[in-house]
Amino acid sequence: MNRIFSGIQPTHAMHLGNYLGAVRNWVDLQGDFDCIYCVVDLHALTSAPDPAALRAQSRELAATLIAAGIDPKRSILFCQSQVAAHAELAWLFSCVTPMGWLKRMTQFKDKAGKKQDQALHGLFAYPVLMAADVLLYHATHVPVGEDQKQHLELMREIGGSFNHRFGTEFFPLPEPQILGSGTRIMSLRDGTKKMSKTDPSDMTRINMVDDADTIANKFRKARTDPEPLPSEPAGLEGRAEAANLVNIYASLNRHTPEEVLQSYGGSPFSVFKQALTDAAVAALAPIADRLNGLMQAPDEIEEVLKDGADRARAIADPILARTKDIMGLLPPKT
Ligand code: TYM
Repeated sequence: MNRIFSGIQPTHAMHLGNYLGAVRNWVDLQGDFDCIYCVVDLHALTSAPDPAALRAQSRELAATLIAAGIDPKRSILFCQSQVAAHAELAWLFSCVTPMGWLKRMTQFKDKAGKKQDQALHGLFAYPVLMAADVLLYHATHVPVGEDQKQHLELMREIGGSFNHRFGTEFFPLPEPQILGSGTRIMSLRDGTKKMSKTDPSDMTRINMVDDADTIANKFRKARTDPEPLPSEPAGLEGRAEAANLVNIYASLNRHTPEEVLQSYGGSPFSVFKQALTDAAVAALAPIADRLNGLMQAPDEIEEVLKDGADRARAIADPILARTKDIMGLLPPKT
């Protein structure tokens, strides 16, 4: 059966971009694939989080995924650091990955800025750990937002490099799944920057836990331009903020931007922003309610993660053992 793997970092609380770009697709794909979803806390370490905050956010993110519809009975839901094979395979892959491939990564360049020598090695090696995450399960499909495209291309190169070096087809090369109109949700304050957990201003994003008043306020203050909405997508050219709001509305309602503009072409933003608020509240309020309930029983969340990690290990450990064997590492004597 085709297998899905995808992950999300517990850096800050989940936002609408994560939901529309990735997590809602994860939920939808549960019926058709064997799904593995991961809270990637080892990746989060690359941004040097406070330890207590990291622990709390990992728990809360797992609960948010469940509240959003990830069913831990049908899918495997677990925390990356609880399955040691991820870190181990990442090292093995480091030994088939040239530095030049990692130097090309735009996310590293963006995050490290001009101070590349001071950036953490973990940040540089980040995509190698991502490749390990996915290939460790022989996953065939990886549903993500558009910002992960380059990392997924590299993941295929790393798998291919391993296969070529050892003359094997052991690792299938996974396909990215970048699905729907929500795969590139932008900041509410600057339509050229992606909506991000780490932007210092909370007004740039809608968080999954924002209440109706906060959502209304953020959309009301979202940057726009003085023109009414056009009646066709071509009219959004050069209007990044307007295009972003249309995209968010389209994605929330599972419509195309064309359909949205057929209904709202000619409307002022005041009218459209109200419709947008209503759609976002309708989607997010039930998730926030379920999350509140789940957070009353943190032990149960940890139980779910433990069960997920046990099931993940059962798949990962034999694949790691075979990888080490292919590379010529001596197995421990039993
Ligand atoms: P992360 O935690 O930044 O984001 C989780 C998912 O949300 C998507 N996303 C967005 N989609 C649309 N618009 C946005 N503004 C937006 N912001 C984020 C991301 O594309 C992602 O799918 N490196 C990954 C985590 C990871 C992973 C993996 C993913 C680790 N290992 C293996 C897939 C497979 C990340 O930082 O995601």
